[in-house]
Amino acid sequence: MSYLSFSNTIPSQTVSLTEDLFRLMRTYIYERTGIFFADNKKYLLESRVNRRLSALGIGSFEEYYRALMNGFGSTELALLINSITINETFFFRNEPQFATIENHILPQLIMRRRQEGINRIRLWSAAASSGEEPYTLALIIKEKFQARFPAFKFEIVGTDINTQVLDVAKRGIYKEYSVRNIPAEYMQKYFKHEGDKYSLSEEVKKLVEYRQLNLFDKASMRLMRDFDVVIAANVLIYFDYNSKESVVSSVYNSLNKGGYFFVGYSETLYGVSQALKPVHFEKAIAYRKE
Ligand SMILES: C[S@@+](CC[C@H](N)C(=O)[O-])C[C@H]1O[C@@H](n2cnc3c(N)ncnc32)[C@H](O)[C@@H]1O
Repeated sequence: MSYLSFSNTIPSQTVSLTEDLFRLMRTYIYERTGIFFADNKKYLLESRVNRRLSALGIGSFEEYYRALMNGFGSTELALLINSITINETFFFRNEPQFATIENHILPQLIMRRRQEGINRIRLWSAAASSGEEPYTLALIIKEKFQARFPAFKFEIVGTDINTQVLDVAKRGIYKEYSVRNIPAEYMQKYFKHEGDKYSLSEEVKKLVEYRQLNLFDKASMRLMRDFDVVIAANVLIYFDYNSKESVVSSVYNSLNKGGYFFVGYSETLYGVSQALKPVHFEKAIAYRKE
């Protein structure tokens, strides 16, 4: 079924989601993304999917769900995912974590790599949202490491399941909210301020490569290899225990031996992975692949 076959009338009122359809919709989403809507998050799913119903001119969840089941198409799945993810982020969000990467992790990894005769460090922001997190890494690398280690190649990859936020990331133009934590010296050097917009310079943007990637998709995750640092911050909270475990074991395989995994400030891998060992730095915890 194509969505051209739906009526063009845009429902002006919020359509309500029955318990039965809530369960069906959340299973559909969970099986494809690992994102789990607990019972107390029904209102969230209802309001987010209502946006899709309005956009398509569909009058009920039942009709929408039936269409999804009848091969509505992968395009709609992508749009549904775009509408349900929470993309909150900003530059230097977890400042102590970035300070740890700058002052401890990168110097240590560079030294080790040099001893091994490898001139490359790979970093991955695995739930990059609109780019503030991978670009924070890029700012640190540009300012503190590139000139000091000219022989080194620093590769930063930013991935997210949501295609819409990745488009914002590629543009690299932000509002005050996103840039409010950026130290002044970075702002002056690497941003152009015009009206209410802050544009990141090309020299920083080009350090990050963006790709759409579903962390829950084992096949795609197998292609992500050879990383020294992975940040999957503020994303595991949307998963249940099983999907969290699956994602963490995939990330484990993506890391090089001696590489580090970071999660969000209020997240932990305690009880999720025994293979990754917590390392306590002064201000942050990292998980190391032994
Ligand atoms: C709250 S944002 C976190 C952004 C950034 N890491 C930070 O901490 O500021 C969570 C991001 O995870 C992404 N996400 C959710 N489920 C995902 C999945 N299965 N695969 C990849 N990304 C996912 C969302 O699209 C969203 O952009």
